[in-house]
Amino acid sequence: MQKIRVEIQNRDWAEAELLQNNLDSSAGNTIKFPVWHIKAYGCLSFLNKIAELKEFLKNNTVENFKLNDDQEHSNLLLKKLVLSMQSKYQLPYLEDEICHCRHIKTHTCENSALAGNLSLKSIGATCSAGITCGSCKPDLESLIDYIKNNHATK
Ligand code: FES
Repeated sequence: MQKIRVEIQNRDWAEAELLQNNLDSSAGNTIKFPVWHIKAYGCLSFLNKIAELKEFLKNNTVENFKLNDDQEHSNLLLKKLVLSMQSKYQLPYLEDEICHCRHIKTHTCENSALAGNLSLKSIGATCSAGITCGSCKPDLESLIDYIKNNHATK
C-alpha cells in the first residue's frame, strides 16, 4: 500500500500510509472512506494540523481536504503531505542538483523552503545556492513559488 513521508530535516515529519483504499457506497448505508494511518513528530502547530487532517479523514477523502496559503512552516509541510497523499506534489525542477556551482541538491533547497526560507536571499543564506554565477536562480525561484503558492485546493 501507498506510504508517504514528508519532513523538514531535523525538525518536523509525518508519515501517511494508505491501509485501505475502498470508497464503497454500496455497503449498506455506510460510506467507507479510504483508511490512512498517519503519524507525525514536530512542533505543536504541526501536530495540531495533523490532528485536524486525521479528524477530517474519518469522514472524508483526502481529495476534499482544503488547503490554505499560510506560509508558516507547519502549513507548508502539511500541504506537501496532503498533496503527496493526493499524488499531486510535483516540484517544477526534477534534477537531483539544482545549483551546479555549489553542487547543491534540489532536496536541500526544497527542505529550506519548507522550513520557511521563501526568498532567493534566504535560500542563498541557508543553502549557499544561487550565490555564485546565478544561473540557477530561475529554477530556485520556481521551486520557491511552487512551495509558496500552488497548493490551495479549489
Ligand atoms: S549554478 Fe547556482 S550559482 Fe551558479
